[in-house]
Amino acid sequence: MSQKFFVTTPIYYSNGVPHIGHAYASIIADIIAKYHRLLGEDVKFSTWVDENSQKVVETAEEAGMSVMQYADIMASKHQAVWDGLGISYTDFIRTTESRHKQFVQEVLQKSFDNWDIYEGMYEGKYCVGCEAFKKDSDLTEDGRCNDHPNKPIQVLKEKNYFFRLSKYEQQLSDFYTNNPSWIIPENRFREVIEFVKWGLEDFSVSRETNRFGIPLPFDSTQVTYVWYDALFNYLTVCQDGDEDFWPANLHIVWKDIIRFHGIYWPAMLMSAGYSLPKQLLSTGHFTVDGQKMSKSIWNVINPVDFCQEYSRDMMVLYLLTAFPVGEDGDFSLEKAILIYNAKLANNLWNLLNRFLVLSLKIGGQVNGLEDDIVATERVKSILSVQKLYAQHDIKEVLQQVFFFSDVLNRYIDETKPWTLKDMNDETIQKLSNILFTVGRGLETIALLLLPFFEEKMKELLGRIGLHISVEDLFNQIIQGSSQYTIAEKWEPLYTRIDKS
Ligand code: ME8
Ligand code: MG
Repeated sequence: MSQKFFVTTPIYYSNGVPHIGHAYASIIADIIAKYHRLLGEDVKFSTWVDENSQKVVETAEEAGMSVMQYADIMASKHQAVWDGLGISYTDFIRTTESRHKQFVQEVLQKSFDNWDIYEGMYEGKYCVGCEAFKKDSDLTEDGRCNDHPNKPIQVLKEKNYFFRLSKYEQQLSDFYTNNPSWIIPENRFREVIEFVKWGLEDFSVSRETNRFGIPLPFDSTQVTYVWYDALFNYLTVCQDGDEDFWPANLHIVWKDIIRFHGIYWPAMLMSAGYSLPKQLLSTGHFTVDGQKMSKSIWNVINPVDFCQEYSRDMMVLYLLTAFPVGEDGDFSLEKAILIYNAKLANNLWNLLNRFLVLSLKIGGQVNGLEDDIVATERVKSILSVQKLYAQHDIKEVLQQVFFFSDVLNRYIDETKPWTLKDMNDETIQKLSNILFTVGRGLETIALLLLPFFEEKMKELLGRIGLHISVEDLFNQIIQGSSQYTIAEKWEPLYTRIDKS
């Protein structure tokens, strides 16, 4: 039986259509999922929408629709984005589904029976934008939320149920100590550890006034607070036969919600008797042309429109080469075009193009001996890329592959195969060896980049006559194929983009 791998995206609030920021998390998850499929693993990849939120209720009201009517429309809009981007999810979850409601009620009941959920009185401030309670120290001087200054802070005094987070302080600290790379990057993990060291307070898990959400099984006058409900989506998708996929191998979320995932979530799991996810990858924020994406300044990029206007691979390449996954960055169209032209339209297409043209000179059948020095570089690249993938160091993966592509371009420059004029047995043999070396290299590049640019890399493999199933290929990647067949000189794999 093949090894299981389970990766998740955040479930996105369904009161808006996903923009390029949401797509960023889903693209990273997709690349990681595809890489693990290449390793021959059985991959589960879950995503979709967080619906039991006051934001969704409010936006539905503004649109003059019932909440479920609105939620249905938004859920299909979300799905259209992920399908449009070719995201290889295997599981969809909406938090209004009855399977989710049942499961959340089950885990709430378990924690209630354990004395981990108890009744109390909540008095305090709440921001609907964040779906979080706020301390005065979290607010601006005039009492507004830093991230949602236009949404009035609500002052609440109501009966609530609380989760006994304080009980898990020591267990959490021990867990962090025993799992030193549980959250990456390291600086994010340190923040979480520090936060826990300062001491944990119990937190409210229900609301009396919310009209929409999952009722507490032990008090139907209350619905669960959105995070309790949202986090368990990761386990709902592992019911009904997929239990073996839990614990998840990787949750991908940005730094804003790393405390929910790094502190509340493991404590909730411990309380309900589940094992903990194996790793959390915290991404940074990115801005667009130096500014936070905002409807009011028209810089919100719709990822599907962007792909149609420019290129999907340009978007993916830029988002993953411009800044490391764990750090903040900026999206600039101008720079995206530059990198795309340099790496895909020039570097990679040139290499392939030279290979195709020269191969046709010897009849399109390429076999021979791989150059020793290039072969060594190739194997080195494969090994280091595999290590980088395992660390989710996606920017370095790309860097390493393009470095190897440079090696091949230089190899062609130096061996000057186009100077071999008279085609006798000896020159044909020489040319064959050079081309065979480049063919092996191209095969390697296409496989290593397949998780990023699946469609184009499959096309590349096809153009050099490789049609074996991708899973088989990856097992043979170091060895390489024994023959490359070129039938014609095609159109460019990537064409330069000149508009900006
Ligand atoms: O937080 N840069 O949903 P959400 C990088 N429902 N990443 C970005 C981004 C940007 N500018 N904008 C959005 C929620 N993201 C909850 C999650 S999970 C149990 C519940 C990404 O719709 C980032 O990955 O606000 C972040 O985690 C996610 O979108 C937030 O989506
Ligand atoms: Mg399934």
